[in-house]
Amino acid sequence: MNTLVDNVVSGMGGMPPYGLCMDCNAEQFRQLIRFMATPAEAEGQ
Ligand code: HEM
Repeated sequence: MNTLVDNVVSGMGGMPPYGLCMDCNAEQFRQLIRFMATPAEAEGQ
């Protein structure tokens, strides 16, 4: 998770730094990554 957040902040390949969200903080990136990594049927579990 820390590596994924670092890669979002720094930018990676075709992804721009901060994923273009300059106002987002690390905790918000963690929550977004957790959301993206959670299958829809498992949401809320
Ligand atoms: C806040 C919004 C975003 C978050 C949280 C996010 C998150 C991530 C994460 C966790 C990865 C995987 C990094 C890794 O493999 O270590 C990734 C990869 C990637 N993202 Fe994003 N992303 C965001 C916005 C964007 C946007 C706006 C774009 C395009 C304009 C983008 C394009 C990409 C691409 C192309 C990759 C693959 C990078 C590579 O492996 O070369 N992302 N993103």
